Amino acid sequence: MFAQLAIIALLAASISQQPVQGRGQKEDLLIAVGTLEEQVQELKQKIVALPNTGALCPYPYQQVLDECFYVSKVSLNWNQARQYCQGMQGDLATPRNVYALKSYVIETGAASTQVWLGATDQSSEGTWNWLDGRPITSDWANGMPDNYSGNENCLDLRIKWHPPLNDSVCEVAERFVCQYNL
Ligand SMILES: *[C@@H]1O[C@H](CO)[C@@H](O)[C@H](O)[C@H]1NC(C)=O
Ligand SMILES: *[C@@H]1O[C@H](CO)[C@@H](O)[C@H](O)[C@H]1NC(C)=O
Repeated sequence: MFAQLAIIALLAASISQQPVQGRGQKEDLLIAVGTLEEQVQELKQKIVALPNTGALCPYPYQQVLDECFYVSKVSLNWNQARQYCQGMQGDLATPRNVYALKSYVIETGAASTQVWLGATDQSSEGTWNWLDGRPITSDWANGMPDNYSGNENCLDLRIKWHPPLNDSVCEVAERFVCQYNL
């Protein structure tokens, strides 16, 4: 009996000692959660109402990080490949993220050895710039460019090499990567 009374007394004491401020905070938090839930619902409705602007890259280009690429299923020499890409409102690829593009090419399975990219030293022997004018300063395969046959003036990406960039004979037919500039 005394023990039960003691327990009730302790409970009463602990309840009465619970700071009003604590309850107030709990109520405030519940209200805040309610408001957040309302806001989430509103945002969901706004997302549904958004016009469907479609993907970032126009078909058949695919987004890789923030760039748009297309890996060909046909093989052409470098000049023909460039013409083909330009006919797709793009140009041969000048990736800012060479390894992201490499991963993507591997993933498509479109090419097992190499693909043409957008760079050549045809008009400036020995000076390698991307078609957009940026110099190619990294990602050359070891010892490249080596002008191996005395006639290697176009850039390709070697699927199985690391680093992957190689100078190759422009007249060889290879699959290639086009890029659409956003
Ligand atoms: C590549 O080889 C050709 C033929 O030997 C030569 O004319 C050209 O200058 C070479 N290019 C470079 C960058 O060494
Ligand atoms: C890549 O580099 C090697 C060595 O220079 C060369 O023999 C070859 O023609 C280049 N291109 C391709 C597609 O293998």
